[in-house]
Amino acid sequence: MHIIQSSGYQLELGSIVESSFIEKLKLFSNEKIVLFADEHTSEACVGFLISHYDQLSEAEVIVIPAGELSKTVEIVENIWEVLSDYQIGRHDLLINVGGGMITDMGGFIASCYKRGIQFINIPTSLLGMVDASIGGKTGVNLGHFKNQIGVFSYPIAVYIDPLFLLTLPEAELMSGYAELLKHGLISDVTLYKRVLEQMEDPASISMELLKDGIEIKNNVVTADPLEKGERKKLNFGHTFGHVIEGFYLGKKGVSHGWAVAIGMIFESYLSYKKGLLKFEDFQEIERDLLKWFKIPSFSDDDVQQMVDWLLNDKKNRSGKIQCCLLEGMGKCTFDHEISLNEAMEVFLHFKNQQINLN
Ligand SMILES: NC(=O)c1ccc[n+]([C@@H]2O[C@H](COP(=O)([O-])OP(=O)(O)OC[C@H]3O[C@@H](n4cnc5c(N)ncnc54)[C@H](O)[C@@H]3O)[C@@H](O)[C@H]2O)c1
Repeated sequence: MHIIQSSGYQLELGSIVESSFIEKLKLFSNEKIVLFADEHTSEACVGFLISHYDQLSEAEVIVIPAGELSKTVEIVENIWEVLSDYQIGRHDLLINVGGGMITDMGGFIASCYKRGIQFINIPTSLLGMVDASIGGKTGVNLGHFKNQIGVFSYPIAVYIDPLFLLTLPEAELMSGYAELLKHGLISDVTLYKRVLEQMEDPASISMELLKDGIEIKNNVVTADPLEKGERKKLNFGHTFGHVIEGFYLGKKGVSHGWAVAIGMIFESYLSYKKGLLKFEDFQEIERDLLKWFKIPSFSDDDVQQMVDWLLNDKKNRSGKIQCCLLEGMGKCTFDHEISLNEAMEVFLHFKNQQINLN
């Protein structure tokens, strides 16, 4: 079991049955427990948990449709009503069992319900394990705008068990690798190369790589929990990534990680154009990422729409678009202002490399 030092909550990597999860459940032996999952993770993971822990045999289970389209204020409101119907009180516990969609949303539901109840994250996707379940960002989308409504709020514990990856579809596994590549590109080029190597044999992810990826995320968010400085680097690839993801919201096969991978190609190009990144480094990143993640085709109107949406990015200040850029492979800086023309130019540059997603 790897116990990863984090501020104020338990973060454990390894078999959940050997973790401190059982001890945590005992703290709630006189309270109500609610398991929150989507239709896939309810089938693949919740049953396993209930069968292994007697304490969960009486738990209520709330299941929502899988996919990013469920990450809405409306569904959150429905769930608050269900919690209220179950008479869940302030001392009760919510356990989020799922990928980033479920842990983001479940964290938000728990944090606002009755001014906050305690929650545990059990991430079941690779992306959830190395990124979304750690660091206290919770929230939901607002229309096409990603994660516009939310709060920073921490679980009491996060249990990361790679066993759950066995049922994760390969496309979702690759989505998680995209965020791991990002962890490498912003801070550790050796990790970036190890992730690329591992992607050749994606299903058998090494425990060491998982641990190193988790530690990068955990170290950054522990040092800067409210994203005042260094944590902004984790947004590399997300300025363009979020508008691309928002544009394709709900379309099958279009994952968060894929959109971030395309965003990383675009933002690496921008880094080169702004004189920060060597052309050879940009080319290497472009080649590495295009091997796994294809650029979708956009019409001129689509591009205009996405560029307009950039004006509503959460990182913007005084109406100016702010972007993270690379100054080398493994070195990222933040708060770079970009103009609408520059953003438009990025989309146009990749026009000849686009493929039709249908
Ligand atoms: N809070 C953060 O810091 C942060 C960071 C990165 C991403 N995110 C958010 O995370 C979300 C993306 O996370 P995701 O890629 O995990 O998406 P997701 O939660 O939608 O999961 C992807 C798919 O995999 C399925 N799945 C998950 N675990 C499974 C398992 N063990 N077996 C079978 N199927 C399984 C889900 O049902 C879903 O269909 C986005 O909403 C993104 O905004 C948040």
